[in-house]
Amino acid sequence: MKNEQYIMAIDEGTTSVRAILFNHQGKEIDRSQKEIKQVFPHPGWVEQDPNEIWNKTESVISDVLFKTETQPYKVRSIGISNQRETTVIWNKRTGKPIYNAIVWQSKQTNDIAKQIKQHGLADEIQQKTGLIIDSYFSATKIRWILDHVDGAQTLAETGDLLFGTIDTWLLWKLTAGKVHATDVTNASRTMLFNINKLEWDQDLLDVFNIPKKMLPKVEESSHVYGYTQNFTFMGVQIPISGIAGDQQASLFGQLALKPGMTKNTYGTGAFIMMNLGDKPKFSKLGLLTTIAYGISGKVYYAFEGSIFIAGSAVQWLKDELKLIENISGTANMAKTANDEPVFVVPAFTGLGAPYWNESVRGSILGITNHTGINEIVKATLESLAFQTKDVINTMTEETQVPLNSLVIDGGVSKNDFLMEFQADILNQAIERSATSESTALGAAFLAGLAVGFWKDVDEIDGIKQTGQTFEPQMSEIERKRLYHNWQLAVRTTETFEE
Ligand code: G3P
Repeated sequence: MKNEQYIMAIDEGTTSVRAILFNHQGKEIDRSQKEIKQVFPHPGWVEQDPNEIWNKTESVISDVLFKTETQPYKVRSIGISNQRETTVIWNKRTGKPIYNAIVWQSKQTNDIAKQIKQHGLADEIQQKTGLIIDSYFSATKIRWILDHVDGAQTLAETGDLLFGTIDTWLLWKLTAGKVHATDVTNASRTMLFNINKLEWDQDLLDVFNIPKKMLPKVEESSHVYGYTQNFTFMGVQIPISGIAGDQQASLFGQLALKPGMTKNTYGTGAFIMMNLGDKPKFSKLGLLTTIAYGISGKVYYAFEGSIFIAGSAVQWLKDELKLIENISGTANMAKTANDEPVFVVPAFTGLGAPYWNESVRGSILGITNHTGINEIVKATLESLAFQTKDVINTMTEETQVPLNSLVIDGGVSKNDFLMEFQADILNQAIERSATSESTALGAAFLAGLAVGFWKDVDEIDGIKQTGQTFEPQMSEIERKRLYHNWQLAVRTTETFEE
């Protein structure tokens, strides 16, 4: 439409960056996407080039404007959602990163995490940041870069270096170095941010010897951070008015805004998030407490269960085992498998929530001479649902809040077999998200709310589409038997030593 205005969401994920234009009905107009190269300098290390991330971001922005013949002034505002924890440090005078971005999955800082654990800081860190000590979070990655780049610690102390998660890096670039800021959700993944007081924690900065000067200003997720200053927008100054880590953005995109409302995103891993409302709770059973979003002067919290291997297990069937040609065929293969109890525990890089066992490795249990490709495919898909149940059981046990609703999004949610099995094993109706783009949509909602593109959450609620519901069909006895065997399979796998 001639006078239509749009919100642009930039979704910078682990493997690709996308720019998507949404209209006032929350409908995707078009998108452009580019892959991001993964760098593996050593086994277990994962890095990316921050300049490549920025250049490709700029290029997808231009592409989508060009494709849709959209003049920049028609973009009312920009929202950013991003892979979380991934750490960039750059020199604020030259604008050059001093090292690659260390990606959230990277294990090169395991030793730093171990040392911090040995100092007996686990409880203090959990009470302050909601997190468990792990190389996953940004603090150990900042320490590693300051230790390994010549002169970096001194430059950090003199205020020449800036730290940012990917949102901060892109915001700094979009505003031509004018704004160094992040939002509460991204700050809550650094292991340096006090989620009760909503400020950087000086004691933790001292523990990691990280100068506060390098850290970005922390704002709400729906907030006008600054305006575009660069050429891509041909001089039009567009507000950047929404930022959230991708998992939180998808919770917001699903409008899971009441306590107990839960979402599960099946990507490379699976990230399950349950809204806790405006008071944090701290887990005794291996869940993370994280900031879900900050909006209109208030901050909301969530429990998060991070599963490291989900969609990548299905990818493994294709790329490594070469059992399947395409992922879309796996639902039919699983439906024709026999009923023998085969279990795949895809602990390729250890187990995340609620086990947090870095040293365990994966297994296939229960095979017979009747086990074929279909049975392995089925067991792999089922492992995603079992892992989700592990996390959701922990969440409901800890909160004593029954699961209010569960929406599933992400690539693998297109798999009907998995969705049916997920409902069965949870004994709960689940919804497959109407859009596979709830992450980008969440960033767009946050950005649009800050500039009045949408008046309030009620207005957004009115345009949100409901997805397909899957109802549980499995008998109680069957469900209990299967889940009991899954738990045995995990325990057996954990006892295996390399
Ligand atoms: O915590 C890591 C998470 O934000 C990565 O998400 O979708 O880029 O794999 P994704």
